[in-house]
Amino acid sequence: MENTKKWAGEKAAEYVENGMVVGLGTGSTVRFFVERLGERASEEGLAFTGVTTSFATQKLAESLGLAIADISEIDKIDLTVDGADEIDPQLNGIKGGGGALLMEKIVATHSVKNVWIAGEDKLSARLGTLFKLPVEVVKYGSENLFRAFVADGFQPAWRLTDSTNADIGAVVSADKRLTTDQGHFIIDLHFEYGISDTDSLAQKLSQTVGIVEHGLFLGICNEVIVGKADGTVEILTRK
Ligand code: 5RP
Repeated sequence: MENTKKWAGEKAAEYVENGMVVGLGTGSTVRFFVERLGERASEEGLAFTGVTTSFATQKLAESLGLAIADISEIDKIDLTVDGADEIDPQLNGIKGGGGALLMEKIVATHSVKNVWIAGEDKLSARLGTLFKLPVEVVKYGSENLFRAFVADGFQPAWRLTDSTNADIGAVVSADKRLTTDQGHFIIDLHFEYGISDTDSLAQKLSQTVGIVEHGLFLGICNEVIVGKADGTVEILTRK
């Protein structure tokens, strides 16, 4: 699957033009995109300003000598390229497998165009069937939220420091939980048969006090570049 990620990431690097402000997503697929941008910068003198969605991407971009701006200095991002964990036919998705969903959603929200890059294994008929839904929560009161998720039948699991999940429903001490770049915990919710109504779930999660953001990215993505096992890339566009 590494190759499908590479093909999608490198195709997306063709979208970047001189003078653009570009949101740089997070994850192993985005790494190919950013590395290709680094090559274009040194080969052709491509000059753009990057806005990063995680400390990891910032470190990568800086190591390649790319110009980075803080989001607070930017009013409009021309294009953001990011990965995704699961993508449905309407180009809605689940993100946050890399723990960066909050920063990713903030950057996406300020972007004129959002392009996702993914291998074809991320395409899914119904969100939640391939991947758990990450929810970023404030540390204070997070155990109470966890118990509320259990009661709701959402089968929560703490995200651990090594980025794996604890067992569903398992109690985990705070020092073993992953802390995100913005200082929160992540709880992953498991929907055995997928999410039946993404809009109402998104609304419920957004209205729950203590949840900072959830990993449902609905109506955000404009285009998906899919890397396929046969070596081609397919472009899916939001209707
Ligand atoms: C990070 C994300 C990533 O974009 C998503 O997890 C995809 O990662 P990868 O390209 O490594 O499969 O949402 O929070």
